[in-house]
Amino acid sequence: MRRGSIVQLVVLGILFGAGAAAVALLIPWLPDPASKQADRIDFVFWFVTAICIAIFALVAAVIVYAIFNFRAGPDDDEDGPPTHGNTSLEIVWTAVPAALVTAISIVSAVVLTQNEHLPSASASVSRAAQSSGTGLCKPRDADPLQPLVVCVVAQQYAWLFQYPAYRNATSATLRLPIDTTVQLQLQSRDVIHSFWVPEFGQKQDAVPGLLTKLVITPNRLGTFPVICTELCGLGHALMRSQTTVESKDEFLKWARSRGKGAAAGGGASAAAKTFVDNGCDGCHTFKPAGAKGTIGPDLDKLTEAAQKAGQPLEEFIRQSIVDPNAYIAPGYPKGVMPETFSSLPKQQLDALVTYLAGGSQ
Ligand code: CUA
Repeated sequence: MRRGSIVQLVVLGILFGAGAAAVALLIPWLPDPASKQADRIDFVFWFVTAICIAIFALVAAVIVYAIFNFRAGPDDDEDGPPTHGNTSLEIVWTAVPAALVTAISIVSAVVLTQNEHLPSASASVSRAAQSSGTGLCKPRDADPLQPLVVCVVAQQYAWLFQYPAYRNATSATLRLPIDTTVQLQLQSRDVIHSFWVPEFGQKQDAVPGLLTKLVITPNRLGTFPVICTELCGLGHALMRSQTTVESKDEFLKWARSRGKGAAAGGGASAAAKTFVDNGCDGCHTFKPAGAKGTIGPDLDKLTEAAQKAGQPLEEFIRQSIVDPNAYIAPGYPKGVMPETFSSLPKQQLDALVTYLAGGSQ
């Protein structure tokens, strides 16, 4: 091969490599990672992308070089010279891709294993863990932060997050302490849903009858979307929540006070607990509960809504809970409110109706 040809090939390769690298680097293809696991996934992404760019540059350079240098003349109808077999070339083009694919498999396998790894907890059972036998999922016997277990309950079309180590405190948004390994234990009350926070880099299905798990170590403060990424029914597109990553102190302060509230019993506070435990605050606004959801109707305006529906207030509220599709507030889609609340114990339902009727204007 002439020296000029090699120089041409190298220049072409650099041009194509730079072009592909610019496309990869200048366009934000992935959200900024906000967890250790997402950092690792990002590493695999860039590892594979770098290999792809190198191969693309090589192939594109050879094609463009060949198009210009071996172009047939206008009247040239002849076949090219016959070539057959080149053992060393065949060894190279088999061995190099094999080595690259093996490297990608090894890197991916290591990252997958690391991302599923949950640091083992110490044997001592903390008081927080002991006080929580009745939760949706079992806490690990450990200090309350390492690793933190959060039960994630999915249902059409809402997320509910419960913290067994904090007296089963519940929340409609997922609050997490930074730099703490968290194990999410996912379950579904009806159909298959899928939990996804793009910034955490992973998805996990919530399947009825199964307890699926996901390990997350958030490492960036902020608020990120929680998205259902499995088509689960009419309200699928609305099945969104938020996750807030905050400092450990802020998280502990919130979780402890939330857990205390959950432990208090009787009257309005029991109804308030029912309201939060069932994720009502994820979708509705209701001032007495500090709820600011906007997916469903504003519960501060129930009196007005009952008048529109032409029903007595308490009867209207009860019907809206146990048979949500009997009357749909104007402007809201049918079939979005879960129908599972008809199974609430009568006592809880009565208290909830009274609570909602008392709080609305
Ligand atoms: Cu739940 Cu889509």
